[in-house]
Amino acid sequence: MQLCIQLTDALLCHDDELEGRRIAFILYLVPPWDRSLGGTLDLYNVDEHFQPKQIVKSLIPSWNTLVFFEVSPVSFHQVSEVLSEEKSRLSISGWFHGPSLTRPPNYFEPPIPRSPHIPKDHEILYEWINPTYLDMDYQIQIQEEFEQQSEILLKEFLKPEKFADVCEALEKGGVKWSRRGPPNKRFYEKAEESTLPDILKDCMTLFHSEALFLLLSNFTGLKLHFLAPSEEDEMDDTAKEEAASAPDSTEEGTSYSSSEPENNPAAISNNQQSNEQTDPEPEENEAKEESSVPTCQGELRHWQTGHYTLIHDNSKTEFALDLLLYCGCEGWEPEYGGFTSYIAKGEDEELLTVNPENNSLALVYRDRETLKFVKHINHRSLEQKKTFPNRTGFWDFSFIYYE
Ligand SMILES: *[C@@H]1O[C@H](CO)[C@@H](O)[C@H](O)[C@H]1NC(C)=O
Ligand SMILES: *[C@@H]1O[C@H](CO)[C@@H](O)[C@H](O)[C@H]1NC(C)=O
Ligand SMILES: *[C@@H]1O[C@H](CO)[C@@H](O)[C@H](O)[C@H]1NC(C)=O
Repeated sequence: MQLCIQLTDALLCHDDELEGRRIAFILYLVPPWDRSLGGTLDLYNVDEHFQPKQIVKSLIPSWNTLVFFEVSPVSFHQVSEVLSEEKSRLSISGWFHGPSLTRPPNYFEPPIPRSPHIPKDHEILYEWINPTYLDMDYQIQIQEEFEQQSEILLKEFLKPEKFADVCEALEKGGVKWSRRGPPNKRFYEKAEESTLPDILKDCMTLFHSEALFLLLSNFTGLKLHFLAPSEEDEMDDTAKEEAASAPDSTEEGTSYSSSEPENNPAAISNNQQSNEQTDPEPEENEAKEESSVPTCQGELRHWQTGHYTLIHDNSKTEFALDLLLYCGCEGWEPEYGGFTSYIAKGEDEELLTVNPENNSLALVYRDRETLKFVKHINHRSLEQKKTFPNRTGFWDFSFIYYE
């Protein structure tokens, strides 16, 4: 049993399942409360894969009221963000235990397709990218820093006029956004690519282009193109393990296996050794096929109040290069959330935070011991509107590259 004071943050979608928990209860000890104060207990229904779908019941806390529900593999619920600064949402909660129920098998989402580069030569870089970043001496400096830090932030990445065009196209509307769930894993909006105006399509093409794969190889020392130099190409044990366990079918599921040359930059992690014994990844798909074609996957996302991604039991960890380019972040403050946080697997220790910042490109190389999530965007983010009345949240181009 525990005494809870829920202050501002939300308790995002989860199912409460833990060995032997059968009934969850909450006794509310709140001052007079209504919906406008937030803090509702929201219950989800589930889809055919037993994944939460949408909120079907929303309970407003009230003094001396006892709520209880059966804990099961489908008892998905959340406590919505408490919006009141003055009142505290005080409750006593706990569980009655009994014999465990048998769980349905873990559901693995279909993998997101990855694709090799699109053939496009250097022209596209000169057209789009701040010339500073195409200077060879500067690329060498960037690579040195990246190999030390496993991450780098490249400000003013796109040419100002191109960046302005991209922002304008996003602000103008007309792009169709679709919600990405399920809510126990993520909640944000993804652009439907067929509805993108040309300038945004072209920007997506830039990130898929052969020339950009080469540029990223130069920035990072990773081999994202067969022409990119590599001091040593032989696979080490880690890489073989990884090739064996890929693909699987989680969030960042894979359709190509990859190899890790030993001379790669150290991935961001507090512990370089991957512990294969404790690796919970499913091995059902033993693709031994050796295909070292570098690939990527990417999407244009919209982030606003209430959005987040969560680390979950089936979160995929693997070597990958994350790329984020932010747009429309005027007036965005880190306290609103929406930043990307990298943590060491099995620990709460934060390794790195990437904050949304206009026209700034973040590159992060992560390993199999590193997980990431986007911090829940809280209601304080609505203050952005006071200074920028036309803004609702921000956008990012989010790409992941695999060697
Ligand atoms: C990007 O943000 C900077 C300040 O953060 C601002 O000066 C600039 O106008 C913004 N650019 C666009 C195109 O919105
Ligand atoms: C990458 O670096 C090589 C030299 O090592 C250079 O010839 C090439 O133009 C660079 N590629 C890009 C895309 O800047
Ligand atoms: C907001 O949008 C309106 C119309 O869409 C425009 O007239 C106004 O100048 C914009 N305000 C700012 C601060 O950009």
